[in-house]
Amino acid sequence: MTLAPHTRRTLPMALPMTDQTHGRRSAVTCHLRCGDACAQPVPNTSDNETFRDVAAAALSRRSVLGGAGALTLAFAATAVAGEMSPAAAATVQNHGGRLLFSPIAPVPATVDDVTVPAGYRWDTIIRWGDPILRGAPTFDPAHQTPQSQAGQFGYNNDYLDILVTDRQRRRGLLVANHEYTNEGIMFPPGTDPETVIRTAWAAHGMSVVEVHRDRAGQPWKYQPGARKNRRITLDTVFALDGPAAGSHLLRTAEDRTGTRVRGTLNNCAGGTTPWGTVLSGEENFNQYFYAEGTSAAEKRYGIGPADERNWRSLDRRFDATRPGFVNEPNRFGWIVEVDPDDPRSTPVKHTAMGRFKHEGAHVIIAGSGHVVAYMGDDERFDYVYKFVSRDRYRPGPGNANRKHNLGLLSAGDLHVARFVGDGLQDGVSDGTGRWIPLTRNGRSMVPGFTIEQVLVHTRLAADAVGPTKMDRPEDVEPNLVNGRIYVACTNNTDRGKPGVEGATEPNPRTVNKDGHVVEIEEEGGDHTGTTFTWNLFLICGDEASAGTYFGGWTGQVSPISCPDNVAFDSVGNLWISTDGQPRTIGLDDALFKVPVEGPERGRVQQFLAVPAGAETCGPVIHDQEDSVLVAVQHPGEDGSWEAPQSRFPDYVPVGSGAHRGQLAGPRPSVVQVTRRM
Ligand code: FEO
Ligand code: CA
Ligand code: CA
Repeated sequence: MTLAPHTRRTLPMALPMTDQTHGRRSAVTCHLRCGDACAQPVPNTSDNETFRDVAAAALSRRSVLGGAGALTLAFAATAVAGEMSPAAAATVQNHGGRLLFSPIAPVPATVDDVTVPAGYRWDTIIRWGDPILRGAPTFDPAHQTPQSQAGQFGYNNDYLDILVTDRQRRRGLLVANHEYTNEGIMFPPGTDPETVIRTAWAAHGMSVVEVHRDRAGQPWKYQPGARKNRRITLDTVFALDGPAAGSHLLRTAEDRTGTRVRGTLNNCAGGTTPWGTVLSGEENFNQYFYAEGTSAAEKRYGIGPADERNWRSLDRRFDATRPGFVNEPNRFGWIVEVDPDDPRSTPVKHTAMGRFKHEGAHVIIAGSGHVVAYMGDDERFDYVYKFVSRDRYRPGPGNANRKHNLGLLSAGDLHVARFVGDGLQDGVSDGTGRWIPLTRNGRSMVPGFTIEQVLVHTRLAADAVGPTKMDRPEDVEPNLVNGRIYVACTNNTDRGKPGVEGATEPNPRTVNKDGHVVEIEEEGGDHTGTTFTWNLFLICGDEASAGTYFGGWTGQVSPISCPDNVAFDSVGNLWISTDGQPRTIGLDDALFKVPVEGPERGRVQQFLAVPAGAETCGPVIHDQEDSVLVAVQHPGEDGSWEAPQSRFPDYVPVGSGAHRGQLAGPRPSVVQVTRRM
């Protein structure tokens, strides 16, 4: 491994390490983003033991597997170079694609910089506060208002994509989610509470921004005031559609139809559809509401009386104890779909895809033409889901096709995954699985639940059919090259503690601080089917630590912990971004490339690291252009306005004044890495 020849900015002092959190994130991030979800009792108290899961202590995969042992992965066996035809071997040789790089060395958690491989550069495309809408003011961080923020790029960008809009690949639409706010960094002390709350509402949501460049491979630049630029905030009206739209469970005093919702909340990861829309997962929405927290549904979703944000002081709907607003939390926790091409379109919340703490949703078109969306519920001991559309995708241009495709996620069948281990005697965590239907043909498949109850209280319905409790499933994404699905289980340090489930074959480590990646292969390659096989592709950590496994690769790997978002390049290599490495292995969060085929299957190679305190989100891999985009979320998350712990990306020198439009502290930003010219 080589160190990137890059001048690193190192913080003047070591970051203070507050007490480690259960979720292995900074305590500040846990508090603000997830409402301290991992410090609460496990919300899944169901007794849905999977009948063939084998409780087992963590095994050292390396010691068990060693050499040819890795070949027990049935579908990997054909990918061993020595057993392939010359043509197939050549294909494997080519699996590096473009975007060639020497892996960077792991970057200590004190480094406040973006670190990239030799031969590459990084540029910021857009930062929190950059003006987007026509007339929006220049960022003035000491005097932000709800109005200025509503025209500017929001806070804590997570999901990210660029939808290229011309043949020359010189124009595009950048779409990003804004998951949550960190008021202690964003506002000077003494800012009046109403300004703080209303500005935070405007800093949540999503952004759509036109971008351009002179030619492919160069960094994108964003266009302030462009026609399709859009901010989606807590004030943007969404339509609820699908079988639960209009249900009595979704009606409030403000919306007696149960079909229209103001805003979207805690938008985490997402997905881009073949018909040019962007999906976004409403994740830890529970923390924004004040409730009694006594009903089964409130308990299962973690909705209760903790309400530090106090948004109810300015908008009664955030008080779910008020008559007429008990259902308001039910109107969040959905997959939303946004058409970035039409800034006047009404975004949609799809009830057919179920309500839980959605990380994101990634779709693939099945051989039959049906659209299949894979989804994770990011909570300790929660589930993996998939949705199969009722109708078929219509390829090709034309308004009629597009209109049809815009309705594909409005009707279909929702399933939840049960993973069955075949025992660890074979030396690998693997087995078979079943997609258990929760809905079919618009009807409930769960005894005792109506269709509306299944879709609004999806966690409760799923509990009743015995799915597998996973270690915080985040991104669940199909690889369009090999058709397999990759599930990033980020961590679960509660596994094995008294009163909760211990190790199982698909979640084989107690006190799982480093996470793992599951590889699923649908039976017969049919994504609409109900049976699959699976194996643990990666069991993450520093390679020297017990229990790690890297797809059978036994050479050197980059240390990796807390896999969160995944992406693929054009030849099917898996790319993984992390959220939590500073607390687990003392390193800045990072982006890694991992081949999934051939002799280098499982070789984890670090491509970049993000600045101090940040997580790496929303990777977009344009390997054929030698470029990568990432969202740098929550840099310097433990700091404050007066004592910032990151100066990314403006790097205003300590003691000097910030220029107009800059901030002496951290700004969540979108970064592009390209080849040096
Ligand atoms: Fe917002 Fe599951 O990460
Ligand atoms: Ca096994
Ligand atoms: Ca995430």
